[in-house]
Amino acid sequence: MHDFDLSTWVIYGGRPTEPGDPLNVPPIMASNFRLPGDRYYSRTEGTPTQVAFEQLMGGLEGGRSLAFSSGMAAVACIFHGLSVGSVLVIPEDPYHAVNGLAVEGERQGRWTVQRIDLADTEAWIAAGQRADLLWLESPANPLMTVADLPAICSAVRKPGCLIAVDSTFATPLVQRPLEYGADIVMQSATKFIGGHSDLLAGVLTTTDDGLFEDLYHRRVRNGGTIGGLEAFLAIRGARTLSLRMDKSMANAQVLAERLEAHPDVARVRYPGLPSHATHANAASFMHGFGAMMSFDLTGSGERASAFVEAAELVNNATSLGGIESTMERRSLIVGQENMPATLIRFSVGCEHVEDLWRDLDRALTATASMA
Ligand SMILES: Cc1ncc(COP(=O)(O)O)c(C=O)c1O
Repeated sequence: MHDFDLSTWVIYGGRPTEPGDPLNVPPIMASNFRLPGDRYYSRTEGTPTQVAFEQLMGGLEGGRSLAFSSGMAAVACIFHGLSVGSVLVIPEDPYHAVNGLAVEGERQGRWTVQRIDLADTEAWIAAGQRADLLWLESPANPLMTVADLPAICSAVRKPGCLIAVDSTFATPLVQRPLEYGADIVMQSATKFIGGHSDLLAGVLTTTDDGLFEDLYHRRVRNGGTIGGLEAFLAIRGARTLSLRMDKSMANAQVLAERLEAHPDVARVRYPGLPSHATHANAASFMHGFGAMMSFDLTGSGERASAFVEAAELVNNATSLGGIESTMERRSLIVGQENMPATLIRFSVGCEHVEDLWRDLDRALTATASMA
């Protein structure tokens, strides 16, 4: 292992080390290798590019990592390990595709689903005494609730109850759930890890060797392995994770404060604001507050649509965690119709903060008559 700061590890981790090696692992686009046995097949053994990405992520999260073709492939690899009759506990408003996976499995009679408010720490701890899997997502998409991960992970000690944390909105630079006692941490590396909106990838990391083997074999069977090009792009993107997060988080704090003070903004949800309902949780263990927020405009849903259309620099796009800022009217997403009609989810990028503010301010002014 290493004793580097994580901001150094993102630059160092997963590099070839032999004399004459290239500094970076190239994208190795091969299904097969000239070696005997079916383990030398990329769905089972992985490509060297994939293995390098897994080494990089393992050092960041503090465990051993497995890379997947998307965040959802990684989530499914955990859920589909539950035996029939299991109790699965999820947040009241999890990421909508995770909700879909949970609902589908319940309908098929695989498990029963219990939903708990992420802010209700005691309820999560109590549920851990009966559950088989606690699925926590923190900060949550898009309502930005921050669960008290250290309190929950340290209090739930029922053997057989796995605690898995979707830490996509935070990244390992902001929180490391395995250190608090979680069994598995999940990243949609599509987002901040990759950081350039040019790939889909997911990562699971655990410190438990038995669990690692179990997840590894299910990935082999389900076939959700990451491709060589995506692993290359994910490493390349992750090299600047620390720089990007510092800049995006600084931008996010300024913009959240200005939006909160604006008369046309009814509410801002950002863990770095003292007004945020779970700010105290975030301040107690996170290293920074992330670069995601959501805010509600005054006026109607039509005003919210006009606002995202009026912005020029901030892209009206659904994904998040890129170097470029994106925002969307969340209730228009299938599966998110229950969100407030004027809720805008905002992924803050690395542009100059004054350019971002001018863009938002202009879009607010341009739509003021609809407020
Ligand atoms: C919090 C969260 N978890 C999981 C996912 C799923 O990741 P992917 O789109 O890489 O499958 C997303 C995607 O937006 C997300 O925002």
